[in-house]
Amino acid sequence: MNPIQTASHSVHFEEAALGALKTHLEETPYSRIFLLTDSNTSRLCRPVLCENFPEAGQWVHLGIPAGEAHKNIESCTAVWQGLSENGADRQSLLVNLGGGVVTDLGGFVASTYQRGIRFINIPTTLLSMVDASVGGKTGVDLGPLKNQIGVINQPEMVLISPTYLETLDARELRSGFAEMLKHGLIRDAGYWEELAALESPVESIPHIRHSVALKNEVVLADPTEKNLRKILNFGHTLGHAIESHFLGRPDLEPLLHGEAIAIGMIMEAYISTRISGLGMDECNRIREGLLKFFPKTRIPKQQQPEIFRLLIHDKKNTHGRVLFSLLERIGKAVYNQEVPAGILAEAFDYYRD
Ligand SMILES: NC(=O)c1ccc[n+]([C@@H]2O[C@H](COP(=O)([O-])OP(=O)(O)OC[C@H]3O[C@@H](n4cnc5c(N)ncnc54)[C@H](O)[C@@H]3O)[C@@H](O)[C@H]2O)c1
Ligand SMILES: [Zn+2]
Repeated sequence: MNPIQTASHSVHFEEAALGALKTHLEETPYSRIFLLTDSNTSRLCRPVLCENFPEAGQWVHLGIPAGEAHKNIESCTAVWQGLSENGADRQSLLVNLGGGVVTDLGGFVASTYQRGIRFINIPTTLLSMVDASVGGKTGVDLGPLKNQIGVINQPEMVLISPTYLETLDARELRSGFAEMLKHGLIRDAGYWEELAALESPVESIPHIRHSVALKNEVVLADPTEKNLRKILNFGHTLGHAIESHFLGRPDLEPLLHGEAIAIGMIMEAYISTRISGLGMDECNRIREGLLKFFPKTRIPKQQQPEIFRLLIHDKKNTHGRVLFSLLERIGKAVYNQEVPAGILAEAFDYYRD
């Protein structure tokens, strides 16, 4: 499988990925190599890497606890400390082996340690393969506020090996699949049809490269998210608010990111029919397609005001206005769309119907 070239680095796939890594390490005189994992990828992915690339067994291993709750500055301090105590210098390399938590945090730690050392990402969840592998966003959470601290910085390379997905929980896999469905909806109608027709999210694995290519196209056109890149936020304005709402309530079971985004996409498809000209028939097809994989979650009307409050706090807001990325049709998105509160309420009704 051919690599994908981003503005700054290559994304390598499958068997070719380790070959590219080998060549890169032969050509680059790193003083020392560090491997960052979380507790799960230490147990499940590090042995796979070491089996296929034995010299990884020699790298200095640093770990953080698994989970979004540990994507914070305390974990960064622990990793900075680990680098420092083990003699990392400006010529050292950090290899991040894990999901989006490890690649986001590891990318940030590398970008700030001694004003920046180089790093390589080996994503091990479907979400991090199709979404976090391109675009250079790194960072950590600030208390309950997601990704508040960070920088845009690019890895030396990204290596995508679907083998890692064999140990990934089915629910986590489905969460990443939601982002792939999004890629189709905003950019490639044929791709949406193809994915929506699959029997199960596992069948999406051969399509990872296409999703990476679609995201890369968008990021190349607008690296700093001034315009087109905003379309990647389709489903995310309401989706993030719903995700935070479920996280913040001890009586509700938290939703995974992709699960919240799937709900957000159904609601924002409805909003698109009112604001940006999406046909109601297309909107219904989107709803059916998403519900096939993401059965309906109960969101009682009484919880809506809380979700609206969270919406106002979205990091993407400017000057107090909540702007949406919406669909004009399947495969074509528009951004910076303002939506009146009344239409938001209708979108919840549409989802519940
Ligand atoms: N930088 C970006 O552009 C970007 C894009 C999307 C998401 N993100 C970030 O990524 C994070 C979410 O990513 P995620 O869903 O990968 O979360 P994650 O890193 O927390 O991984 C999910 C869970 O799966 C485990 N895991 C990882 N790989 C595994 C494997 N191969 N087998 C078994 N278990 C495995 C992890 O330990 C964790 O418990 C969020 O913090 C989000 O902000 C960043
Ligand atoms: Zn997302």
